[in-house]
Amino acid sequence: KSADTEPYRPEYHFTPKAHWMNDPNGMVYLNGKYHLFFQYNPDSTIWGPMHWAHATSKDMIHWEEQPIALYPDSLGTIFSGSAVIDKDNTAGFGKNAMVAIFTHHNKKIEDQKTGLHQYQSLAYSLDEGKTWTKYKGNPVLPNPGIWDFRDPKVMWHAATGKWIMTLATKDRITFYSSPNLKKWTKESEFGEKLGAHGGVWECPDLFPLEFNGKTHWVLLVSINPGGPNGGSATQYFTGNFDGKTFKPDAEKQKWMDYGTDNYAGVTFSNTGTRKILMGWMNNWNYANVVPTKAWRGAMTIPRELSLENVGDELYLRSVPVKEILPLLKPVYKKGMVTIDQEIDLSAYARPLDGKFKLDISLENASDFNVVLSNVSGQKLIIGYDKKNNSYFIDRTLSGETSFEKGFAKKHIAPRLLANKEIHISLILDVASIELFADNGLTVMTDIFFPDSAINTIKIQSKAVNKLTSLSLSKIDKK
Ligand code: FRU
Repeated sequence: KSADTEPYRPEYHFTPKAHWMNDPNGMVYLNGKYHLFFQYNPDSTIWGPMHWAHATSKDMIHWEEQPIALYPDSLGTIFSGSAVIDKDNTAGFGKNAMVAIFTHHNKKIEDQKTGLHQYQSLAYSLDEGKTWTKYKGNPVLPNPGIWDFRDPKVMWHAATGKWIMTLATKDRITFYSSPNLKKWTKESEFGEKLGAHGGVWECPDLFPLEFNGKTHWVLLVSINPGGPNGGSATQYFTGNFDGKTFKPDAEKQKWMDYGTDNYAGVTFSNTGTRKILMGWMNNWNYANVVPTKAWRGAMTIPRELSLENVGDELYLRSVPVKEILPLLKPVYKKGMVTIDQEIDLSAYARPLDGKFKLDISLENASDFNVVLSNVSGQKLIIGYDKKNNSYFIDRTLSGETSFEKGFAKKHIAPRLLANKEIHISLILDVASIELFADNGLTVMTDIFFPDSAINTIKIQSKAVNKLTSLSLSKIDKK
């Protein structure tokens, strides 16, 4: 790999060596290793017959690609789904079997237009994901006549002693339960009249999170199109789940990430109370035409999720996992700096090669921009708009944008807090930016394609702005 031949290859975000990738699938932790499976077309850099490819990691940062785990078979190609560790051998495949629950997509049936072409199936591995056997009784959940019937996310629900499957069923979520992963009973539906409906519902996730000593449930639902800044995005609801029904705290959806490039994100199984999410850092509006050559698609930085109260509503907070900390090489740190017009941080960071983390805290903040640019003068602008109390990322002039007409745009995200102390954290990895504002209450993930590495960082503001702290670290995976 070299910057000359693969100028857009990120360093510490997962990308496949070659070919097409979309959604993360079957993410599960077992015996010291994180497993990432993902939607993969081994024959092309555009979407096509789906497989589950596989990668493993000890820290979710350094990944090793493994042989493809699941190939298409007579029932269809392998769409998105999840994996669990069957500790009590409820399915009878073996104690601690790794069981994948996925959607079979059958093109021949699809062409008949009966709407019966997606159904849920099982495969299991008894050697930590190295080799897989498809279950003979597939499919375990046949299609009841719903065109979009996919992306099962399964979890163990301890209170009722059952597996719960959260399934995307066109314009709503359907919950199923099972004692053994093989026999599924419909429990309830959620969302036909709630949440965002600008597109089809896909890749859901349901999980508990503790907050102030109480258990709350979070339901993630990816939607395409219909995101707040266009195309694909992930909405969520907080509420209660009793093993049968999800009762939301509010009718309106919230957005997990306001950028355009965090889709189909779900959490790892078997990580205890820690909930870690990775998403596909892309958008269906242009995923098939982004200007990378050998491969297409990357994952977001893994993020730890928690809940926070704002006003009297619960919000999801996402921050990069602590496993990224050992990669940080601090180059500049300062308390109390006044920005009058502009400060240029580049001098402290030479050579800057497009991979860094910048943390800024401001007191009594007014409008400011962080301008990231390269030698060609291409720039990405991240900023705060005081009047609207919102953040933005503007990638209009960020490099190659001609592959899709909606790509060169400014994306906007509301700030949830009303106080005047602002904290933003930016993570840059060659061709992506992830903004975590107010400790992860507002998040934006955007990809961009500069001709050469970002090597200049300027903070600009018209009014005098007081920075209470500023720190810049390079990120180096080696
Ligand atoms: C989401 C999605 C899923 C489907 C998969 C197919 O990006 O459309 O709903 O299972 O991609 O690759």
